[in-house]
Amino acid sequence: MLIAGNWKMNGDLKAVRTFADQVAAGIDRAGAVGLLICPPGLLAQPMLGAVAKAGLEGRMGVGIQDCHASASGAHTGDTAAEMAADAGCSHIIVGHSERRADHGEDDATVKAKAEAVLRAGLVAIVCIGETEAERRGGTTNAVLSRQIRGSLPDGATSANCIIAYEPVWAIGTGLTPSLDDIRDAHAHIREIAGERVDAASLQILYGGSVKPGNAGEIMGLEGVDGGLVGGASLKAEDFLGIAEAAA
Ligand code: PGA
Repeated sequence: MLIAGNWKMNGDLKAVRTFADQVAAGIDRAGAVGLLICPPGLLAQPMLGAVAKAGLEGRMGVGIQDCHASASGAHTGDTAAEMAADAGCSHIIVGHSERRADHGEDDATVKAKAEAVLRAGLVAIVCIGETEAERRGGTTNAVLSRQIRGSLPDGATSANCIIAYEPVWAIGTGLTPSLDDIRDAHAHIREIAGERVDAASLQILYGGSVKPGNAGEIMGLEGVDGGLVGGASLKAEDFLGIAEAAA
């Protein structure tokens, strides 16, 4: 089980310090559940410092939310996976639906970024998920298949890649699929990803409006190996509540 927080474009230095201290104070609630927090790139290094200072080193990893496919070069505003590795990060999220929508990232772009994550020796969290129209149109499984086949990096294994299933319509909306739909989507993802990686050991996270109140039933589903949490990861209390429910 892994509970990964995605702060998106939120937070500041004060929030970083408060978060790490509060997580440390309640860490027993998380039991054996793995913890990861992905703040905005500029806050990753302060977060690593705060995690160490709070005594959470080795207990809560730090990641970033995107990277460039190249290791260096003339790419204004971008961050290389190697830089995240150098800073001490462990994971990089790629292909989040907000990146796909706001920055026109297609499966080929996401795949190239995921390959950069592997090249840097980090773990890629590859995000996939259908839109509301796709779910209504009955094409969810087809969309997920296409995204998995198109976005999983060459060299993917269940040790260096995690898939996050995030229905676009469930992100930040308070809506979640039915438990049956989540279970079915995870089973489908595991089957298709199994063409490339060891299906049994692949971690598949669910993301989209996860909160302490629904985490227990979602994380308890067969085939759900953790959560990718946006809004509720901004508050240590909620983040720990979700981890506690997963434990
Ligand atoms: P949410 O976001 O938990 O705020 O719905 C999830 C995500 O986008 O990773």
